[in-house]
Amino acid sequence: EENNKCVIVIFGATGDLAKRKLFPSIYNLYKKGSLSENFAIVGAARREWSDNTFRENVATSIQDSKINVDADLDDFLKHFHYLSFDVTNTSSYQNLHELINELDEQFNIPGNRIFYMAMAPQFFGTIASYLKSNEVTTTIGWSRLIIEKPFGHNLESAQKLNIDLREAFAEDEIYRIDHYLGKEMVQNIEVIRFANAIFEPLWNNRYISNIQVTSSESLGVEDRGGYYDHAGALRDMVQNHMLQMVALLAMEPPNRLTTEEVRTEKIKALRALRPMKSEDVDRYFVRGQYGRGMVNGKEVNGYREESNVDPNSATETFVAGKLLIDNFRWAGVPFYIRTGKRMTEKSTKIVIEFKELPMNLYYKSKDEMHPNLLIIHIQQDEGLSIVLNGKKVALSGETTPVKLDYCSSCQDVLNTPEAYEKLLYDCILGDATNFTHWDEVSLSWSFVDTISKVWENSIPTDFPNYEAQSMGPKISDKLLADDGFHWWPISDDSPYSIL
Ligand code: BG6
Repeated sequence: EENNKCVIVIFGATGDLAKRKLFPSIYNLYKKGSLSENFAIVGAARREWSDNTFRENVATSIQDSKINVDADLDDFLKHFHYLSFDVTNTSSYQNLHELINELDEQFNIPGNRIFYMAMAPQFFGTIASYLKSNEVTTTIGWSRLIIEKPFGHNLESAQKLNIDLREAFAEDEIYRIDHYLGKEMVQNIEVIRFANAIFEPLWNNRYISNIQVTSSESLGVEDRGGYYDHAGALRDMVQNHMLQMVALLAMEPPNRLTTEEVRTEKIKALRALRPMKSEDVDRYFVRGQYGRGMVNGKEVNGYREESNVDPNSATETFVAGKLLIDNFRWAGVPFYIRTGKRMTEKSTKIVIEFKELPMNLYYKSKDEMHPNLLIIHIQQDEGLSIVLNGKKVALSGETTPVKLDYCSSCQDVLNTPEAYEKLLYDCILGDATNFTHWDEVSLSWSFVDTISKVWENSIPTDFPNYEAQSMGPKISDKLLADDGFHWWPISDDSPYSIL
């Protein structure tokens, strides 16, 4: 009970993430009674704001979000305090220390703290070392760090950042956010696999022919050109979200559902990822950049015309790749991933395609029988579909694919909680299972680094190579076609809706 009483310090409290995700999440937790009355939020940022200005901004951000404002907002806002903060100035940390101590007393908090870094990554290390040297992290309660991406720019910078953080926080105090791990249906991957007798026995190279993970966005880079042009889709999406989903799909069943056991299995799966050889990158990975196009009848900019983007930028806004996992379970089963901006729609889906039966009683050519598919809908719909073969009505000897749908977001009376809400609560409770361990971060970076090095040394000549509102460059089809497969449609109103 004492244990979820805490002060949460948000560095970057005037920023976009705090406004769009964190304040609404904290309010939701408050409404549900998940936060006791004994909590306080300190917003720390450069601007000279008063507590009142801060509270007004928090209120606006909650009203602007989709949630119902039905719990007393004034009572809630009393927990919010603001500190104008210079990350490289010792006196800022002393002020912070004092304020936290006061809040501990005012709200009867037993010295527990969360430090949430929701700001420009170049300061992560600096803040950690100042927190340490000013003894802000020294407390009789617990002290935890939540850190947003990007976690480094490559393996080397990630290692350096990790060393800086580890000066002030132990590995088990560091909560590296990958917000995909807070998504309802990403968390459901384990349940689907490990709570169903009809899937787990088939979950291997004897029955699965390939797995496809697509995360498409319809938006372009919006106002994040400055960050994105130095990152690109590989670092922005593949190093973290895509590889995390692959790890959850590929891992062995954990012995128990503890943080330790789950992480161990994910790490093992990432270790089994076949490392890219430089000379193979072009065969296994495809990059794209969006050009102009039409979205809802309006012409939209190409990537190179977006603000804060180099007009000759070679940054990829689309990646597709083929991953191989070298272990007994997955030998020979390709995992195809693709992600990009300005694609046809906002959608994250996983398609598990099963192998054909040993014998085909219905057709002369194997291809006429539709393969069984398990589709995990991560967003925008949340749910599962299974594609089976049934009898075509009235016609004997012919089959037709039929689809069983389960929509989890349609069942719940309550809205599915936002990823951030769940993750923040996990951190308050001290459960790090859905955060990435350092070993996962470093393994993902070493995989991705080979690809980005090759790409940096060979500037693409065909950029921009896909139009807005498309599924990326055509060459990404070849990745699968070479293996005799094709991408399954990911649209929420895919061809199956005719069934
Ligand atoms: C972020 C990336 O991590 O994930 C963004 O930086 C991307 O570029 C976003 O748009 C996608 O997240 P979601 O939850 O909207 O699928």
